[in-house]
Amino acid sequence: MMVHASFVAAIPACHAEGRWLDRDPAVLSAPAAFAAFVGGLLARADPATPRAHDEVPSSVYWWTEGTEFLGRITIRHALNDRLREAGGHIGYEVAPAHRRQGHALAMLGAALPVAYGLGLERVLLTCEAGNVGSRRVIEAHGGRLHDSSAGKLRYWLVTGPCEDAS
Ligand SMILES: CC(C)(COP(=O)(O)OP(=O)(O)OC[C@H]1O[C@@H](n2cnc3c(N)ncnc32)[C@H](O)[C@@H]1OP(=O)(O)O)[C@@H](O)C(=O)NCCC(=O)NCCS
Repeated sequence: MMVHASFVAAIPACHAEGRWLDRDPAVLSAPAAFAAFVGGLLARADPATPRAHDEVPSSVYWWTEGTEFLGRITIRHALNDRLREAGGHIGYEVAPAHRRQGHALAMLGAALPVAYGLGLERVLLTCEAGNVGSRRVIEAHGGRLHDSSAGKLRYWLVTGPCEDAS
């Protein structure tokens, strides 16, 4: 797979900020292990795939440029009680080396029509109040603040081509 090397190379910087701790670059360097990992991610979209009781089917997309892994965005096909509180329908992250270049803005812009295609006319996004970058991304795409509790903000975004202005 084209982005194998750049994905594995991004892991240590994610570990440094406490993310992706379950991803071992030494293991994922092996093509077979990487293929199995990617296969597992893709399988999450299938409702028939076994999953933990508090997980829902989800589609994950990798944002890339040539062979470079830049970030990922995940669309959860439904909410459950846990996601309604924190997590929402859509989550994203940009690899540390590629931040502040507009990738998160572009990823969410690309994901909203996909969510609409999945039948989600509006989506819930949550973020920490102190996560200025994520707030800007959500608000730039028309996110309307629903509520704020314990430092966590919840926004609703309309996914469709236009919104009733009334
Ligand atoms: C939050 C995150 C996704 C932003 O990704 P990014 O690609 O750097 O964001 P963009 O370059 O698209 O920036 C979008 C806007 O946020 C601003 N921004 C981004 N990071 C920022 C930061 N750390 N502090 C202040 N503003 C920031 C940008 O300047 C831009 O604002 P503008 O459009 O007014 O110029 C990225 O920092 C990240 O992956 N963080 C860790 C995971 C995470 O927090 N995910 C979101 C969970 S809700």
